[in-house]
Amino acid sequence: MEQISDKLCRYKNHNFVIGFTTAEYIDSLQRFEVRDSDIFLVTYPKSGTIWTQQIIISICELGGGLNEYPNNLEQMPWLEYTGGLEGQDYAGRPSPRLFASHLTPALMPPGLKDKKAKIVYVMRNPKDNIVSCYHFSCVFTSLETPKSFEQFFENFMKGNVGASSWFDHIRDWHLAKDQYNILYLTYEDMILDLKTAVTKICTFLGKNLSEAAIEQVVEKSTFKNMKKDPKANYEFIPEEKLQGDFMRKGNIGDWKNHLTAAQSQRVDQLLQEKLGDLSLKFFWE
Ligand code: A3P
Repeated sequence: MEQISDKLCRYKNHNFVIGFTTAEYIDSLQRFEVRDSDIFLVTYPKSGTIWTQQIIISICELGGGLNEYPNNLEQMPWLEYTGGLEGQDYAGRPSPRLFASHLTPALMPPGLKDKKAKIVYVMRNPKDNIVSCYHFSCVFTSLETPKSFEQFFENFMKGNVGASSWFDHIRDWHLAKDQYNILYLTYEDMILDLKTAVTKICTFLGKNLSEAAIEQVVEKSTFKNMKKDPKANYEFIPEEKLQGDFMRKGNIGDWKNHLTAAQSQRVDQLLQEKLGDLSLKFFWE
């Protein structure tokens, strides 16, 4: 891995936070044996990963057959990190296995292209994503503390942040979508109508939950309730690593409190340049 800043390294066109993984481990994912029952949650960082994680876990719990783990992170570990949760003994982990990932398609296990294992992909308005990433970088000690919002904004626009460019992530996954069994959702869909989003995920995962069970998943996944849930709120991350909240504001449009009109226009321009030729439709409000 090539070190590109104090806290980031680069391997195969992708930025990783130093100390979280190795080139050998990323390469080993090309031999990772995917099971038909595996469920992968893929996002660009700060797009609503832990929220969707809570929804998927709650659906699977109520759907029956999920093994017990102390918290959501251990129930749905990161595919690409060698964090040592289980010493990466994923081959020995009972089904159904749940994984989270920020990887791009090129780095994912090729077995996913059998289209049997499921991928839920969540995208968020890049402007809110920038703001959420900025705040997280200020409190997560493994990331470089931004000198200012302006400096962070410039790095984000160039893709000089963890997980590289938001624009490339969205583009790569969108272009690869026919190769996978994938459900696309947006953070905004989930904010505007959580029940519909939960129902969509449920149907995609093939879990036939009753109306009451769906309501239960929705209740467990509201910002207010998740924040009180010690398995889901990530307060189990030690303070020396996280000096603030994973669950910060949990709403849409916070970018209006941070981005200048000129910065907002630059995001719109880059969105058009990088993604304008795709059939993606964005509804951010
Ligand atoms: P903000 O920083 O804008 O508040 P990720 O899990 O991908 O790191 O994303 C974190 C973002 O999702 C944070 O956004 C966090 O507050 C938000 N989030 C987490 N749980 C949520 C929930 N139940 N409802 C709404 N937003 C949630």
